This record gives sequence, structure tokens and C-alpha cells, in this order.
Amino acid sequence: MKILITGGAGFMGSNFVKYVLDKYKDYKVINLDKLTYAGNLENLTLVENNPNYIFFKGDIVKKNDIKKAVGKGVDVIINYAAETHVDRSILNPRSFIETDVLGTYELLEAVRKGLAKKLIQISTDEVYGDIEAGEFYENSPFMPNNPYSASKAGGDLLCRAYKRTYNTPVIETHSCNFYGPHQFPEKLIPLFITNLLENKKVPLYNRGQNIREWISTWDHCRAVDKILHQGKIGEVYNISTGERLKNIQVADYILNELGFGPEMIQHVQDRPGHDLRYAVNHDKLAKELDFKPEISFEQGIKKTIKWYKNNKRWWKKLKDKAFDKYYQKQYKKL
Ligand code: NAD
Ligand code: DAU
Repeated sequence: MKILITGGAGFMGSNFVKYVLDKYKDYKVINLDKLTYAGNLENLTLVENNPNYIFFKGDIVKKNDIKKAVGKGVDVIINYAAETHVDRSILNPRSFIETDVLGTYELLEAVRKGLAKKLIQISTDEVYGDIEAGEFYENSPFMPNNPYSASKAGGDLLCRAYKRTYNTPVIETHSCNFYGPHQFPEKLIPLFITNLLENKKVPLYNRGQNIREWISTWDHCRAVDKILHQGKIGEVYNISTGERLKNIQVADYILNELGFGPEMIQHVQDRPGHDLRYAVNHDKLAKELDFKPEISFEQGIKKTIKWYKNNKRWWKKLKDKAFDKYYQKQYKKL
């Protein structure tokens, strides 16, 4: 099988590139990535010399970049490329609309023109908005609340429209929060771990009362693997675990594991429009594709903390170069 993975130098994309090349020795993987601040070829050193792997630097918003990357055609495009950080989308929505909406459009056009046999659109539970109690299902309406989730919803709605109007072969996923190695240290878990490893406090919004549902990189790769091989064209699959935690609980896990107490929490101004609770039902994936998560949050967070402890060289320069400057600007504006 020949797969184009877009955004394969980012957090989850790079984990999936490595997962596929390790598991399927005869598959070819082409990685098309713009290398934004979140794209990092150091995530892929394990596979850079693998003869079944090719990297193209390019932009999914540019159809010629997509054409060059697919060459004579691929079996499937798996779209991990996106602008992904909610706080950044609040500061500057434009790049989110460009990549997450227009980029998805260009990939759909490539599939419509026959450059790929199908598109798997990796999307988020955030498109459903937040829910005080109960769960979202695959047919729940889209009610996004921030520029990131609205942009992802825009891309997903185009997927829906292309399926219906042109019969374009598309499968969509809506996943809960990922965590694990190589996540850019701006998201809750890597930010908190790396701050504590530097003896800095951790900035908690809304006293940690918001709830997120967590899946490890390993389980997310397994779920996408199932969808790639057994998923039905035209279908939508939620990917989740049922492990729903208040942010204060996540913070407590990390503080305890690193030997700190609540004195290291800094309660800061809340994120504007902050979604209170995410919860997606994944019965469809479990029943139709026999998917069960294998790693509990407790096991996964321990492994993740260990990885960040052992890979300071990887995250230190990311924090020094992009992150601190970005956050100073953010806090001034809010
Ligand atoms: P990430 O921010 O770590 O990486 C995104 C990658 O996309 C980077 O390598 C970046 O260089 C690349 N990229 C950005 N714009 C591009 C463009 N125009 N053309 C080509 N490449 C471009 O992302 P992530 O957190 O690993 O998320 C991957 C996907 O999963 C995204 O679509 C995201 O919406 C979705 N998702 C993420 C989460 C999560 O918790 N992180 C949860 C659910 C869904
Ligand atoms: O639900 C899936 C989504 O999860 C993905 O689609 C997004 O790409 C991904 O970024 C993530 O969005 P969140 O907003 O949930 O993730 P983040 O790590 O930014 O924040 C998680 C929670 O922690 C959220 O309630 C806000 C809170 N938080 C976050 C940061 C960065 C803090 O309290 N302090 C912080 O400094």
C-alpha cells in the first residue's frame, strides 16, 4: 500500500508514520509537511533512512505541492496536517482557516481527481462543542466554539459535502485529546511536565475544572490502523477511551509523579470561550472495528513523563525558540 501522510512531521503524524513503517514492512509512506513551528524532522530520525519512506516539504493549501507528493497516485491520503493549538487560534485564526479549511479542500480535490483512492480526515471531538453531561455520537451536530474547532469543522463539513455531492471516498475521525512522546510543549501535558522539569510553575486555567478525554499515541495509531484497513468509505468514527479527567486531576498526576505539590500550580486567567467538557462515545469503533484501548491514562502518563525526562534536548530548544516568546505575547493580549 502507498500512503500519503500529511502533517507527518508533527506530533501524532510522526507517531503514525513510524507505526506504519514498523508494522507493515512492504508499505510505502510519503510524508508531506510544511514544517511549521509544530513540524519537526527530529521526530522522524528513526525512519529517515528507511527505503520505504520519503519526505516532501510542502503545503496542503498548494495543489502543486500535493501533486508532487502523490506522484502517479497513492492508495490513501491520511490528513494529519493542521494548525492545532486552540490558544494560538484565539490569537491568530487566519492560518487555521487556511490550512484546516482550504488545505482539506485541496486534498478533497486531489481525491476527486483520482490522485488517491480515498481520504482519511483526522479530526477532533472539538467540532461537536462541549457537553455538560452525556456523550457526543458520530451524528451529533457540529457546535464549535473557538477558531480552531470552527476551522476543523469547516474542513469536515467539506468532507461531508464532497461525499454527498461527488461521491468522493472519504472517512472522517473525531478524536479526543492525544498525549505521548513528541507533543509540542505548548499543550497541557507536555507544557506542565517540562515546566516542572525546569522548576517552573504550571499555568492552570479555570482552577482546573474543565474536563478532557485522553488517548495515548499508541492507541490512537491502533485506531487509525483499524480505520485504514477495515473502515467503511463514507463513515465517521469517534476515537476515544472513556478516560475523562478534570485538568486539575491531570495536573495532580504530573505533580505527584515529579515530586511536587499544589504550590507549583499558578491559577491564571481562563482561555476565552473555554470548552467545559468533552466526551465522545466510541461504541461504533468498538463494535464495528473491534477497537479497545490498551493503555490506561495512569500507565500512559507515567511513560510520557519518563520520555520528557529523558529527552530534554528535544523539547528545550522548542520552548526556548518559539514557546516563551509566543506566550509572553499571548498573556499581554488577553
Ligand atoms: P501538530 O500541531 O503536532 O502537527 C501538525 C503538523 O501539520 C505539523 O507537522 C505541521 O508542520 C503540519 N502542517 C501544518 N500546516 C500545514 C500545511 N498547510 N501543509 C502541510 N503541513 C502542515 O498536530 P497534532 O496535535 O499531532 O494533530 C494532528 C491532527 O490530529 C490534526 O489534524 C488535529 O486537528 C487532530 N487532532 C489532534 C488532537 C490532539 O490532541 N493533539 C486531538 C484530536 C484531533
Ligand atoms: O479534544 C481534542 C483537541 O485537544 C485537539 O483537537 C486539539 O488539537 C488539541 O490541542 C487539544 O485541545 P485542548 O484545548 O483540549 O488541549 P490543550 O492541551 O491546549 O488544553 C487541554 C486543557 O488544559 C484545556 O481545558 C485547557 C487547559 N490548559 C491548557 C493549557 C495550554 C490549561 O489549564 N493551561 C494551559 O496552559
